[in-house]
Amino acid sequence: MSSIGENGADFLVVANRLPVDLERLPDGTQRWKHSPGGLVTALEPFLRTHSGAWVGWPGIADAEVDAFEEDGLQLHPVALSATEVADYYEGFSNGTLWPLYHDVVAPPAFHRRWWNAYVRVNQRFADVTAKVAAQGATVWVQDYQLQLVPAMLRELRPDLRIGFFLHIPFPPVELFMQLPWRTEIIRGLLGADLVGFHRPGGAQNFLWLARRLVGLEPSRGAVGVRTRPGVVQVGDRTVRVGAFPISIDSAGLDALARDKDVQKHAKQIREDLGNPKKILLGVDRLDYTKGIDVRLRALYELLADGRVDPTEVTMVQLATPSRERVEHYKQMRSEIEQAVGRINGEFSTVGHPVVHYLHQSVNRRELTAFMSAADVMVVTPVRDGMNLVCKEYVATRYDLGGALVLSEFAGAAAELTSAFLVNPHDLDGVKNALDAALTLDPAEGRRRMRALRRQVLTHDVDRWARSFLDALGTQTTI
Ligand code: ADP
Ligand code: F6P
Repeated sequence: MSSIGENGADFLVVANRLPVDLERLPDGTQRWKHSPGGLVTALEPFLRTHSGAWVGWPGIADAEVDAFEEDGLQLHPVALSATEVADYYEGFSNGTLWPLYHDVVAPPAFHRRWWNAYVRVNQRFADVTAKVAAQGATVWVQDYQLQLVPAMLRELRPDLRIGFFLHIPFPPVELFMQLPWRTEIIRGLLGADLVGFHRPGGAQNFLWLARRLVGLEPSRGAVGVRTRPGVVQVGDRTVRVGAFPISIDSAGLDALARDKDVQKHAKQIREDLGNPKKILLGVDRLDYTKGIDVRLRALYELLADGRVDPTEVTMVQLATPSRERVEHYKQMRSEIEQAVGRINGEFSTVGHPVVHYLHQSVNRRELTAFMSAADVMVVTPVRDGMNLVCKEYVATRYDLGGALVLSEFAGAAAELTSAFLVNPHDLDGVKNALDAALTLDPAEGRRRMRALRRQVLTHDVDRWARSFLDALGTQTTI
């Protein structure tokens, strides 16, 4: 990694996290590792193939790091103090906005101290971006942690073209209206030239709130059009609003899955698991929205009912540690670990646990091998903006093998209609879908997987980014 010169960047992504996280090791040294989550998975391959800069937090408190260049990408770290991590990141972002935007599946907490930190940190992101952006640059602000940045940045740099994309659901208006700082958030977002959501419903909610809270009139006829963004007039400025369903580097993952070593590793995983007839797989950040508890409950009941034979079926749950100091996450972790213990305690035999639970992150190759080995991918969030894991699974199954059980409450369900779609609140429905996926006729499985792959391979992350940037009116030289 080398340091960078003084030239401003023409294209910048601004996100809470950099694509790499700084890690402090016990011996006092530090190293960079890949950052968790779907935002980085989606944006990193796009950014790495286009020249650009990335403004973000290096992932630990009080890390004073100079800007540097990594693999052609300029990284501009934004430092956060330990108090800011607690109040802005764990507090307002993940204790207020995250549960509020995910249908209040956990109660959001509203604290003025957290809000003040959110305002302060958003201002810092805007200040750093204003310094490093070239005249007339395109700035793409990402996600719920930075909703005030568009307006703050416009104030500092009216010459910039500013886009904003929300990676999580935008909530129903009744829920959003609970937020004491609702008008400030809408005003912050309206600083952008284009505001993007995963689903048309999110765009509609935003347009309604803009009219109600800021008193602006969405232009007639454009609201709710699926592929055409809506429009809000803000004085003499036009803000476009639309739905842009995010995706993955489908071709890259397809190629990785075909790699001989990855296939060998998939075979090895199967052997290590004792060559079960069927492998179920879950891959998530350990988050209460992901419905890991739902799938464990369904599996427990299927085993207890005698519908699943514990000597024939094994489940692997990979769970990336996430937001470990936030209370809801601590509680959920212990509930999930208890549920795993209960299944294994009642149904395993020595040397053959029914559930293999890894509270770890694995690398890309290993993840692809797990997906290649899995007969059934289980994705059961109670609410998810998109969910990339299900698209990743589909991209890896060039052999047309495997089956996908997918929650209706993931944004991806609108595109992946040939999956076994389930309502995660309906336990019998989840059990039946797991049963159907485990006993799927291979010809029917191939038919479903072919349809899923057609969607995922033709709608990749490059297409997503292009459609957003085209709507933003950016030259396609980026
Ligand atoms: P979110 O952004 O909420 O974390 P997504 O499903 O959109 O959810 O994206 C999660 C990303 O993190 C995917 O690329 C997925 O492969 C990756 N991931 C999740 N859990 C793990 C894990 N245990 N090991 C490696 N990668 C993981
Ligand atoms: O969109 C989901 C998201 O919250 C991203 O913004 C974030 O980068 C990712 O999940 C991982 O979460 P965190 O950065 O809090 O570890």
